[in-house]
Amino acid sequence: MNSISEIKDSFTKELDAVSDVAALEKIRVAYVGRNGTLTAVLRSLGDLPLDERKKIGPLAQALRKEIEDALIEKIASFAEQSKFSVDLTAPGKKISRGHLHPLTLIEKDFRQIFSSMNFSVIDGPEIESEYYNFDALNVAPNHPARDMWDTFWIKQPEFDGSNTSSRDEAKNTKKHLLLRTHTSPNQARFMREHTPPFQIIVPGRVFRYEATDAGHEINFYQVEGLMVGKDITLANLKFVIEEFFKKFFKGKKVEFRYRPSYFPFTEPSIEVDIKIAGGKWLEVMGAGMVHPHVFEYAGYNPREWQGFAFGMGMDRLAMIKYNIPDIRLFYSGDVRFIKQF
Ligand code: DAH
Repeated sequence: MNSISEIKDSFTKELDAVSDVAALEKIRVAYVGRNGTLTAVLRSLGDLPLDERKKIGPLAQALRKEIEDALIEKIASFAEQSKFSVDLTAPGKKISRGHLHPLTLIEKDFRQIFSSMNFSVIDGPEIESEYYNFDALNVAPNHPARDMWDTFWIKQPEFDGSNTSSRDEAKNTKKHLLLRTHTSPNQARFMREHTPPFQIIVPGRVFRYEATDAGHEINFYQVEGLMVGKDITLANLKFVIEEFFKKFFKGKKVEFRYRPSYFPFTEPSIEVDIKIAGGKWLEVMGAGMVHPHVFEYAGYNPREWQGFAFGMGMDRLAMIKYNIPDIRLFYSGDVRFIKQF
């Protein structure tokens, strides 16, 4: 009995002095561990005469419970204290965040810069009709200019001849489907449903049936631009383009060069080259004044309206802006690439 109360006293004393978890664990082992003082007493109970065992047994058991409870309480008090002993001056853990794809960043730039010039951002379908991708843009079915765009055609259901009317319908309304080869069909789509004046851009993914290399992919991104009004001229086109590129290449010196070119949907047609900070000339876009036939297809009177259009490759601009050597990196899904943005 004596030794039980001695054990209790010395445990209480030691527990009071403990200030960390490691010391607490030492005490636990010393008293109730496999070779602990109290454990030894409990083990020796069997050797005691019955009357002593009856007295000491319950006391020893009660003390074990008391010690275990006290240990748990102490641990809980450490946890509670540590909540308040945070070092507020310690630097925070670095949170690893996701990265936006460079093409997403470029598209954001386009949206923001063109919105600031009062352009609306419009969307259009990736699966397109032959009509909008070609015909409505003044590219007739047998026109050699169709070869400018290597096209992924979408398989049409076979007509077995028993339903002649639907075959004729498909032919006449040019319901052949394809993956759009450029964003230009959205010029025709938008004009059909809106009355000028307006100015829009259409960012989107386009598809080309061609071999891939560092500069070519079977899919890539373009931005189409269209501004229509009563007296829009090439001067407006020039202003908008130059304003865009100056903002896009923030603060860097950008020079411009305009070359005559050919596109079926513009007349005259031009191509625009830029030179950034005295570097090399780079071709960045096709553009021009909307062809009268394109207005006619849209149901506009070409004597009443005029406008400019342009198309740029977003991948190409991203490659120039971020110095990316190979277009295929955009579609590689390699996180080591994405993490750099
Ligand atoms: N759609 C053309 C292409 O993909 C680019 C283009 C050229 C768009 C001239 C235009 C334009 O709107 O006016 O090659």
